[in-house]
Amino acid sequence: MKFLPVFWAIVGKKCLVVGAGSIAARKAELLHKAGGKLCVVAPEIGVALSDLAFFEEIELSQRAFVESDLDDAVCVIAATDDQDLNRDISRLAQARGIAVNVVDNPELCSFIMPSMIERGPIQIAISSGGVSPVLARMLRSRLESTIPGAYGELATLADEFRLTVKQALPNVGARRRFWESILDGQVAELVFSGKMEVARERLQQQLRDFDHAQVNGEVYLVGAGPGDPDLLTFKALRLMHRADVVVYDRLVSQPILDMVRRDAERIYAGKASANHAIPQENINQLLVRLAREGKRVLRLKGGDPFIFGRGGEELGELIDENIEFQVVPGITAASGCASYAGIPLTHRDYSQACIFVTGHRRKGAEDLNWKMLSHANQTVVFYMGLENVSRICESLKAHGRAANTPAALVEKGTTAMQRVFVGDLDSLPAIIADQQVRAPTLIMVGEVVALHNKLNWYRPGEEIGQI
Ligand SMILES: C[S@@+](CC[C@H](N)C(=O)[O-])C[C@H]1O[C@@H](n2cnc3c(N)ncnc32)[C@H](O)[C@@H]1O
Repeated sequence: MKFLPVFWAIVGKKCLVVGAGSIAARKAELLHKAGGKLCVVAPEIGVALSDLAFFEEIELSQRAFVESDLDDAVCVIAATDDQDLNRDISRLAQARGIAVNVVDNPELCSFIMPSMIERGPIQIAISSGGVSPVLARMLRSRLESTIPGAYGELATLADEFRLTVKQALPNVGARRRFWESILDGQVAELVFSGKMEVARERLQQQLRDFDHAQVNGEVYLVGAGPGDPDLLTFKALRLMHRADVVVYDRLVSQPILDMVRRDAERIYAGKASANHAIPQENINQLLVRLAREGKRVLRLKGGDPFIFGRGGEELGELIDENIEFQVVPGITAASGCASYAGIPLTHRDYSQACIFVTGHRRKGAEDLNWKMLSHANQTVVFYMGLENVSRICESLKAHGRAANTPAALVEKGTTAMQRVFVGDLDSLPAIIADQQVRAPTLIMVGEVVALHNKLNWYRPGEEIGQI
């Protein structure tokens, strides 16, 4: 982040604009609108600024800039055609600790002015950090068309009732729920259709009827997909924005976590400090406890919660404890890795079935049905198989799979660090042996793996491993 976005109170403070052309006039207008005490210095004053000064209280000085113009200013805009002068103004202002903006020269700026959308008291500022103002403006026009103008009235209505609601609902969680029901419900619709008075009455009625006891928590069991944030579902994203607290696994990537509501509490359930996984029972209880506190709990899991994700156990506990919930499927690693590695899981000519199986061998657990897994013309995907890759390949061969059956290992699939190693049941263990492969990885076995050579389309960068 090159600039810190803030909204700055400049009411009654001196704001200096040097230059008086059309760009200077636009900036001056904004400063004036925000309540700044505007002083403009320029040898020639353009039409737009003269007009502004005619209607508004602006100090216009028709002369060259002198250093003392900076006295008492909190900010200065340098908008002259003279680049040397702009540079001098920037240097002098920064030496005095005054915020400075030089038009079209981000290097000389200590602040920049964003593209803006205004809806009454709501302000949305968009910036490219000076890299591409045109792109920022394009984004602004896209947003403009999706945010109804009446959001301004909605914000004004919220402001009108802010204190009343605060007194009636001292509990922060309850208050947030109340406002969400207003701003995303019938009252908002009434405002949008111009029925302000009815909206006011309905809001008051909803406040009277608001049942504190109804502030039940709930749990969203959400699949975050295999890593690429673009693979999240709309529903996952919506609930990620609603959650009060997120309990996440180690497979949930940072870019995905960054999309969770910014002020949501974050609880890592992957590994505890002693480097042991938090026991599943404790996670189940944590979800129940947080929901009982009235929170909206986002249980964010890599891939799909119901595929090797223990989502079934968590859901079972929620049902036993009568906790409300929603379940959102995610793209499972097999599906994501197969797509991004150019390995179709089924194919009319080569594979008529696909099996997802765990490659992790639990103590005391029955061994896999290797005979069934070794049939030809099917694809077998091993989750959690990295440590047992040799055993997996040997077992398949021992039960009848040809030694030259194509096999691949996909590391960190769908992410910028994805690597794909392709060989066959004989060669795969040796191929990956000296590659310092790191989890998460997926092993795929079957004739379809050979299609990777042709269908491999994803280029995550230099790190891709082509063997
Ligand atoms: C505990 S399982 C969770 C699976 C998850 N619920 C899903 O549906 O993908 C973890 C295993 O998923 C696989 N996995 C998850 N994400 C992966 C990725 N981005 N690339 C490769 N394998 C992945 C690995 O085999 C890893 O050991």
